[in-house]
Formats: sequence, C-alpha cells, structure tokens
Amino acid sequence: MASKKVRIGFIGCGGIANFHFGHFDNNKIPEAQIVAVCDLIDERVKKAAERFQAKPYACYREMLQKEKLDAVYVCVEPCAHDGMELLAIEKGCHLFVEKPVALCLDYAKKVEAGLKAKKLIHAAGFQDRYLDFEPLMKNWVAKSKVGFFNAYWVGGMPGVWWWRRRDTSGGQAVEQTIHTFDMCRNLFGEVVAVQAFGRRGIITDVENYDTEDASAVNLRFANGIIGTVYSGCFIRGGGGKNGIDVFTMNGRMEYVERQGVTITEPNRTITVKTGNDYGQEEDDAFIQAILENDQSLIKSPYCEAVKNLEVTLAANESMDNGGKVIYLGECCPSCCPGEKPAAKAKAPKKAAPKK
Ligand SMILES: NC(=O)c1ccc[n+]([C@@H]2O[C@H](COP(=O)([O-])OP(=O)(O)OC[C@H]3O[C@@H](n4cnc5c(N)ncnc54)[C@H](O)[C@@H]3O)[C@@H](O)[C@H]2O)c1
Repeated sequence: MASKKVRIGFIGCGGIANFHFGHFDNNKIPEAQIVAVCDLIDERVKKAAERFQAKPYACYREMLQKEKLDAVYVCVEPCAHDGMELLAIEKGCHLFVEKPVALCLDYAKKVEAGLKAKKLIHAAGFQDRYLDFEPLMKNWVAKSKVGFFNAYWVGGMPGVWWWRRRDTSGGQAVEQTIHTFDMCRNLFGEVVAVQAFGRRGIITDVENYDTEDASAVNLRFANGIIGTVYSGCFIRGGGGKNGIDVFTMNGRMEYVERQGVTITEPNRTITVKTGNDYGQEEDDAFIQAILENDQSLIKSPYCEAVKNLEVTLAANESMDNGGKVIYLGECCPSCCPGEKPAAKAKAPKKAAPKK
C-alpha cells in the first residue's frame, strides 16, 4: 500500500457523508482519493461525484463490482444496512461504518466476524473518542473512585425523515445518545446490566412519530460503577444538555459533549476546551491505519460499535418490557450481589443404559 493512494468509495452521500467529505476536500488527506460515490438520491450522488471527480453510482452492488476499492465508507440511515458491509468485506475492502452500525445485532456481529476473518481495518463513527482531552478524562476517571454518573443527550429532533420512527432509526438511545453510551463505555468499561424506562406523550404534533420523547437508562458496569443516561428529543428552543457528570470520592468531572471538560477537585479546578479537529483526526486515523496495516491506530473500531449497539438495544428491550433488567455478558458477583441472572437449568443427566 506504501506508494499508491487509498481508493475510497462512499455508500450514502447525505448529512454525515458530507461531514467526512469535508475531511478529504482540498487534498487534506493526500494519501487518499474518493473515486466512487453511491446514493439512491440522484442529486446527492451527482453533487458528491462532481466534488471529487468520482464515478457516480445508484447501486452499491454495481459500484463494488466495477470499482477496485481499498476502502468503503457506509453512511446510510440505520435501517438501510442490508448486506452492503458483507459485500464490501467479500471484495476485501476496509470499512468505516457510521453509527449505529445496524439495527440488528446479529447482522452487526456477522460483519464484525467477517472483518476479523479477513483482517481488514475497521472503524465506526464515534468521533468523540478523538477529542484531544479524551486521554485526560480517561486517566482522571481511572485514578478516581467513581460513585456514579449522570449522562445526557437532551435536545430537539433531527430533521431527517427516518429519525422519528423506531423501525427506521432505532429510537433516540440507539441513534443519537449512542455517542454518550459510547463515551461512558470508553470511560467506565463494560456494561453488565441495563434497566430503562421510556416516556411518550409529550410530543403530540409530529406526524408519523412513534418513539420515546424521553428515556432514563440505568447502567451497571463490570467494575461496579453505576449511572443513568437520559435521552430527550422534546426540547424546543434552548435548555438542552449533552454530556456526562461523573461524581467521585475526590471531585467531580463535567464533560460537555464535544466542547470541553471541567474537573473540580478539593484544591483546584481544571477546565479544558476542545482544541483539535477530532472529526478530521478520525478520518486521518482510518487512512493511516490502512496504509500501515495497523488496527491499533483506530480509537473507535467496529467491534466497539457493536457493543454500543448491544447496550442501546437492551435499553429499548427494557423500556418495552416495563423496565425489566437485561444482563449482558458476565455479571460480577461483587458488584451485583443477589442480582445474578438465574443460571440456566441443566438438563437432567440421562441414566446410563443398563448393560
Ligand atoms: N457520527 C455522527 O456524529 C453522525 C452524525 C449524523 C448522522 N450519523 C449517522 O450516519 C448515518 C446517516 O445519517 P445521515 O444524517 O447522513 O442521513 P441522511 O438521510 O442525510 O443520508 C443517508 C443517505 O444514505 C442513502 N442511502 C440509503 N440506502 C442506500 C443504499 N442502499 N445505497 C446508497 N445510498 C443509500 C440515502 O439515500 C441518503 O442520502 C445514520 O446512521 C446516522 O446515525 C452519524
């Protein structure tokens, strides 16, 4: 790969694709070239093709068949992951997939297995992991005794057609607050239990809307940390809040989503504002990882996105089942005394046949 440019194809040329396009404009990543673009909407694909002198396609199957691509960006709506990743993997393409990487966990796990089997570079669109103060937050949390946290993605409703329905977006926790769940997992580790309540009936004037207006998702992590992640899309005008407040034995950390962090300790307060173009760094890292064949350069790999999907889908399941607790992975007995899910009953041993 050392001397030639990384040849990229895009599936989906909507809002988030344009965020990535901005990082490839004006030769910002000289080692890469967008050579093919695909969208179901003619106007979008034409615009993207003109921008990069790329070949336009209406069908990703045709694009993957005709073009020799090194890497593919998948930037389609959550309900539209219909096999495109698996076909790209079959063709040996490295993959960048926007979050949520699917609405079906089994499908996402199939893609994850395919990527690993073919040793392809993989990334998912959790750009907050590339914030320049992310290591500061991680280190501070790692050396602190965390009691609990409160996290928020509370604001208005995005304008895209597919957002307002659970069957097309997954709902707010799966589609949007998944960024916050990702940062919580990044800071606190693996989630072992999920319990959630959702609330509807606040928003009454949006047509074809069928998801929660608000939800509160309780999480328990393997290391014992507990916290609640709030989602709300009912805010009109100001008054929302996005971020994570972490309460520890020796101070508090307030992460304001993508803007900065304030750490308040008994004798000092540290405030850091975002100082880097973390979206650019996310795409730089993907291309660099391909060139160097080094997956460790990716801070937000596909497999992490699969875990985020599992947690947020569990939140939906809990909401839909009266707040039932959903256990993930192996629950730690010291953090969940008496709460371990009942072990599956063993089938009685068959009596050995008499000789
Ligand atoms: N990382 C982030 O911060 C961030 C921000 C916004 C959106 N997203 C995610 O990105 C994804 C796309 O969101 P968006 O806002 O760009 O949506 P969008 O509706 O603006 O764009 C999606 C595009 O995909 C196209 N598409 C769908 N199926 C296709 C197919 N089979 N072949 C080719 N094109 C196809 C659609 O025609 C549409 O133009 C969503 O999963 C969303 O959650 C991530």
